[in-house]
Amino acid sequence: MLYKIYQQHIFPHLLNQVMQTPALMDLRRELLLGVSNEVLEIGFGTGLNLPFYQLVDKLYALEPNADIFKLAETRIQQAAFPVEHIQASAENLPFAANSLQHVVSTWTLCSIPDLEQSLKEIYRVLQPGGTLHVVEHVLNRQNLNIQCLQHLLTPIQKKVADGCHLNRDIENALLETGFEIESLNYIDAAGLPQIGQHMLLARLRKSKD
Ligand SMILES: C[S@@+](CC[C@H](N)C(=O)[O-])C[C@H]1O[C@@H](n2cnc3c(N)ncnc32)[C@H](O)[C@@H]1O
Repeated sequence: MLYKIYQQHIFPHLLNQVMQTPALMDLRRELLLGVSNEVLEIGFGTGLNLPFYQLVDKLYALEPNADIFKLAETRIQQAAFPVEHIQASAENLPFAANSLQHVVSTWTLCSIPDLEQSLKEIYRVLQPGGTLHVVEHVLNRQNLNIQCLQHLLTPIQKKVADGCHLNRDIENALLETGFEIESLNYIDAAGLPQIGQHMLLARLRKSKD
């Protein structure tokens, strides 16, 4: 009962605040300014990416959680392009195969229950040569102490942060799905606890053949 109240009425507001940390907003800008045309964003959240889409004509905002999506309303009204809410999960995308040129994920792959299935779905819906743009907090491969903490604290993090895993090796999962790397960088974002500050910022391509 109390947990349900937390999830419905408290967590969405916490998420909206935490996800506006300046270092995260800088990474959104870096990832999104050049993204153009029609875009599918998975795990749209409270719409914090909207001001950074300067070249987008139409956005499919996929967000399964209605309590979170509610907080995006004003930002959607202010957007300079149409935003269509798709209430679905990334594990089962309601789009035809080879239909989209761009898919975006910002701090969503950490929270999706079945990461492997969602990446297969993103790969399926992208056109050959299409791009997945991602920024995600990930397992810190370089620092064993942090890595241990990430494994240890993930069960608690999943409870307090709506299924978020601190310990996912997302680069590995992307490569196993068959994506090709267009660009890939790791950045330690300032102003965040060490267990969640190691970021992967990457663009991955679906093969042309
Ligand atoms: C940490 S929040 C990030 C929100 C937003 N992308 C941002 O950058 O602020 C994770 C988001 O993933 C969404 N999510 C969780 N499971 C999902 C799934 N199976 N498919 C799509 N989105 C999912 C959550 O509802 C939440 O909006």
